[in-house]
Order: sequence, then C-alpha cells, then structure tokens
Amino acid sequence: MTNSHHRKVRSFVRRLGRMTNAQRKALQDLLPRFGIPFQNHPINPEKIFSRDAPRVLDIGFGDGEAMLTLSINNPSVDYLGVEVHEPGIGHLLLLLERAKTSNVWVIQHDAAEVLDHMLPDQLFNAVNLFFPDPWPKKRHHKRRLVQAKFILDVARVLRSDGLFHVATDWNDYAEHIKYVLKESNQFTPSKEQDGVDFLSKRPPTKFERRGRQLGHDVTDLYFRKV
Ligand SMILES: C[S@@+](CC[C@H](N)C(=O)[O-])C[C@H]1O[C@@H](n2cnc3c(N)ncnc32)[C@H](O)[C@@H]1O
Repeated sequence: MTNSHHRKVRSFVRRLGRMTNAQRKALQDLLPRFGIPFQNHPINPEKIFSRDAPRVLDIGFGDGEAMLTLSINNPSVDYLGVEVHEPGIGHLLLLLERAKTSNVWVIQHDAAEVLDHMLPDQLFNAVNLFFPDPWPKKRHHKRRLVQAKFILDVARVLRSDGLFHVATDWNDYAEHIKYVLKESNQFTPSKEQDGVDFLSKRPPTKFERRGRQLGHDVTDLYFRKV
C-alpha cells in the first residue's frame, strides 16, 4: 500500500494566491493577538473568551469581511473564524486592527481538524458556513466539507437549539446539504425568522457576489439542532 492511499482528503487545495506585504506582516504581527494556535486537544473557553457571551463559529470565512460586519453589528456576540487561506486571514487581521475589534478570534487551520480536536461540546449558539467550496465534479464530491462526520461535529459544538446556517450558490450542493443534514438526525430545517437576528442575518460575502455575477441562485439553509 502506498502512502498516498492514506492521504487525507481535504476540502481545500493550498492556493498560494497573491499576498500583499501588509497581509504577510499582519500574519506575523497580528495573528498572535487575534489568533488561537491549533492544538490537538480541546481549548478552555474561559481562558480565551473574556466573557460569557453568545458565540458564533464561522467556517471558511474567506476574506473575513462578512464576519467582521457581523461582529461590528453584534458587539455583544463573540465570533470565532476558521480559515486556511493565508491572504484572506491577513486581510481580515488588518480589518480587525483597523476596526479595533475585540470580539473576533481566528484559527488558521483545517476546520475539519479544528472541529475534531479543538472545540469542546456546546460552545456555540450558531455555526455559519457561507459558500463552502462546491467541488462540482462528481469525482471531487468527497472533498466537500459537508459530510456525515463533519455534521456530527457541527452538532456537537452547538448548544441545544443552536442554529447551523449554510449558504451556497450551487443548487446541487444545496440538495446534498439538505440530504446529509436530514440523514444525520441531528437537525431540523428552520426558517430564518425563527432565529434571533444576530444568528441568522447574513451580510453579502465575496463569493456570493462572484456567484451572483455568474448568474447562480443563492440558497440560505437554516437548521436547528434538535
Ligand atoms: C468559496 S470560499 C467562501 C469564502 C467566504 N465564506 C465567502 O463567502 O466569501 C471557501 C473558503 O473556505 C475555505 N476552506 C475550505 N476548506 C476549509 C477547511 N477545511 N478549513 C478552513 N477553511 C476552509 C477556503 O480557504 C475558502 O476561503
């Protein structure tokens, strides 16, 4: 058996992309301030979050602008974003410093592993997954973030009655998400208006704009943990 047989299927490919000098410097100087380093055992929330506020997890925040907007609109809520794309993280860090934000934390790591190892049960009131990479080719479907195991982890880190909000501009991914969530028996579909505002209001995101420009329909799906 070759090593490649055991290689982990990831939901992302490392895109080197263009990173500005300011973003690179932000990763060096600001990540220690806003970041939580990856560890393979659960964090102690009391040591990280300075208060006992409602918490929202944003998986794959991209350039982070939507999460930043949410954090500014909802200062009484704490946000934890997980992302692997360095230019996006650098972009957000610069915005966090400029906005003098104190209710956003960042983990630079694979969200599947962060969920698996690092996040204790029932930490969040809501989990946001906005425009996950759709991996449209059938042979790539195994790379999609929304899989049975991932959804069990999302359910585990949500408080009872917590909200899972997924948005996508791929109809076929929306169907897949509904199917996996139904099969999980952990969630019931919910309507936006069932949610408290800060949990369900989504600012437009970069990838949403991209999808709309391509003429894609945008679907927001809401699920309540049962
Ligand atoms: C299509 S983009 C959407 C970004 C943003 N949410 C938006 O709507 O503009 C998907 C993002 O998820 C990130 N991503 C994919 N798999 C991830 C993983 N396993 N852990 C953390 N981030 C991931 C990618 O790096 C990318 O930035």
